[in-house]
Amino acid sequence: MQYQGPQMLEFQEMGDERGHLVVCEGEGRDIPFDIKRIFYIYGSDRGIVRGQHANKETEFVIINVAGSSKIKVLDRKGNEAVFILNRPRTGIYIPRMIWKEMYDFSEDSVLLCLASEHYNADEYIRNYEDFLKIVRENDEETD
Ligand code: TYD
Repeated sequence: MQYQGPQMLEFQEMGDERGHLVVCEGEGRDIPFDIKRIFYIYGSDRGIVRGQHANKETEFVIINVAGSSKIKVLDRKGNEAVFILNRPRTGIYIPRMIWKEMYDFSEDSVLLCLASEHYNADEYIRNYEDFLKIVRENDEETD
């Protein structure tokens, strides 16, 4: 699996009369990378905006396993998209160097994040102007 940009992923639901079960296997099966880290975000009020960063190294898949939220993504070319996450079997894949913001959390929102790399604060770009600068510099190098 090789995706150019942010992309919705639909996972198979293997439920039966006892309830639902969704499996996310790494290494290109359901998740396009080897999962090295998981974390989850909950207890954020509706007015809160989280994220507001881009990652130089890490790819993510983000799933609202409970509740709902929205995620706005902005790629290096300035393309902006908003994804609504409101189903445990739907995730969004976020490649490297995508500016992302999560917001509009429902009270019961639990946002599960699967990451391709261990945590390293140095690979986070937390300033939007810095993100644009790095993107422009990289584009000039590849021109
Ligand atoms: P932050 O990246 O600001 O959260 P969000 O993207 O949801 O807004 O992370 C909050 C704090 O947690 C920050 O001090 C860094 C720390 N943190 C880790 O130590 N390890 C991790 O894997 C993550 C995602 C965050």
